[in-house]
Amino acid sequence: MCGIIGIASNKSVSSNIINSLKKLEYRGYDSAGLATLKNNVINEKKCSGRVEQLEKILFKTPAEGSLGIGHVRWATHGIPNEINAHPHSTEVVSVVHNGIIENSSDLKRSLENKGKKFKSQTDTEVITLLLAEELKNKKPLEAVQDTLVKLKGSFALGIIFKNFNNIIIGARRGSPLAVGYSKNENYIGSDSYALKSMTNKISYLEDGDVCILTKDSVEFYDSNKKKINKKVLILSEDKNIAQKGDYKNFMSKEIFEQPITAKNCINEYIDKSRDEINFYNFPLNPKTVNKVVLIGCGTAYHSCLVAKYWFEEFTSLSVETDIASEFRYRSIKFSKDCLYLFVSQSGETADTSAALDLCKKNKVKTCSIVNVVESSIARNADWVLPIHAGPEIGVASTKAFLGQMLLLYMLSIKLADLRNEIDKKEYQTKISDLKKLPNLLEKCLKSEEKIQFVAKDFLNSKGSMFLGRGFSFPIALEGALKLKELSYLHAEGYPAGEMKHGPLALIEDGLPVIVVAPNDKYFHKTLSNMQEVIARGGKILLITNNNDSVISENVRFTINLPSIEKSLSPFLSTIPLQLLAYHVALLKKCDIDKPRNLAKSVTVE
Ligand code: AGP
Repeated sequence: MCGIIGIASNKSVSSNIINSLKKLEYRGYDSAGLATLKNNVINEKKCSGRVEQLEKILFKTPAEGSLGIGHVRWATHGIPNEINAHPHSTEVVSVVHNGIIENSSDLKRSLENKGKKFKSQTDTEVITLLLAEELKNKKPLEAVQDTLVKLKGSFALGIIFKNFNNIIIGARRGSPLAVGYSKNENYIGSDSYALKSMTNKISYLEDGDVCILTKDSVEFYDSNKKKINKKVLILSEDKNIAQKGDYKNFMSKEIFEQPITAKNCINEYIDKSRDEINFYNFPLNPKTVNKVVLIGCGTAYHSCLVAKYWFEEFTSLSVETDIASEFRYRSIKFSKDCLYLFVSQSGETADTSAALDLCKKNKVKTCSIVNVVESSIARNADWVLPIHAGPEIGVASTKAFLGQMLLLYMLSIKLADLRNEIDKKEYQTKISDLKKLPNLLEKCLKSEEKIQFVAKDFLNSKGSMFLGRGFSFPIALEGALKLKELSYLHAEGYPAGEMKHGPLALIEDGLPVIVVAPNDKYFHKTLSNMQEVIARGGKILLITNNNDSVISENVRFTINLPSIEKSLSPFLSTIPLQLLAYHVALLKKCDIDKPRNLAKSVTVE
């Protein structure tokens, strides 16, 4: 993961580097650092912990210079401490890196054989030492280009050079890197979000590209060392600049803004006057496509799992779901009549991106469902459906999950309509039902008070289980994932019908078991499974919109949700589960927006 920034300017850069690093902290936050250059001296400052910590260090000992690079780290090689924090510098060069150098052990060994000494445990330091060697008899650009050919793996790099006071070099293979342009100032950054407060003019490096920038110029070279030109994109005004407002943290803001997220997404795609979904430019003929494959990671993968039920219910398409990190290494039989759908909030997830590249190599049609429209995954797919959720800052994905499900739901019914597999009237009823969603989500958020009360049950329990059937099975998986990542408590999501095949052995007196049982065709089956859990001592939190009071007997707590068209229940059941994870984490005083060991954008495989 990690975030990098570089600024070449005519004025001091350290405070703008710090501001950009704060925006990049979603990519990693276990250590931070920067290096500036003044009078041919590299000033390096770094620390373990957050950018705030680095800011305090700079307050005491400022880093002067009108040229500099900065980094936030998500550790891959070596523990998060000051030595392993980036930049990694020698006398002559300083490097920040996002990615993994896969042949770092071999390179390290051969450098050590030549008498080179390493200070850190990182893979990045091999780049610094290789560069220092090359710089003995080469100019910076050539030294970088000749170093890059020795590296295996993925990287985005920012590099400054002691003896070249005015240049920063950036390079990309696998990990994203953007270039920003302004008057008397140019930038490199891991994403456009980090650069947005300084410029709206952006270009993106492609794999193999190198850029060299001064405060007044930017040049690009491809992997063959050929000088190339880049398109300059003008970024749209961000009406939705992420601010916490009165909320304690971003996650609670993002949970509570889901009714608006749903409204925006619906407004974007639904023509309310005709009850019609506006999706144009399908990359394949909707009538002849015969299969969809849905691919993502983590929460995005869970949205794919929910969508499988929708596509299967409304269309005759065959549907597969895949975890991107598995998909990319399997022997897939690609089909031209299949649509490969990639779901990713950030649009930068390395595994999802690699799975998309694999599809492109096999010349099949791809669609991406993303939140960040300028992202690599959005740019590389044949067709893009943005979810329009606005920036999601909390590492735990909430409103983006809702947006992903919404897009996938709309796509499933739209395809059913275009393929004449759904009655026109039913199609339009479904659209009318969708329009009610924002209000119903608002009602679900009122469950917070009850959830706060039950959250205490989780504090001293060994773990918990989340159960559901049909659409509610992936929702149970998502509930368990949210609890794990936020509160560091063990939780398992399971299809309720599978309990008797093993996991029932885990049930003991007082174990919290969350049962997601909306009023759908699985309802009674799920309830029977719930009784089997109760009989063995499980303490049930039931989430349902079947408001028959009899079902609550022997249940510790019931969260009653509003009624909704059956296939839309996943949208509502998700809300109390997000609130539950949030409140357990709050009671445990966990860092809600930045859970330990995680990062928002997972740009390593
Ligand atoms: C969700 O809460 C997680 N932090 C994580 O599983 C995330 O959904 C996953 O890493 C995929 O990210 P993406 O949507 O940006 O591709």
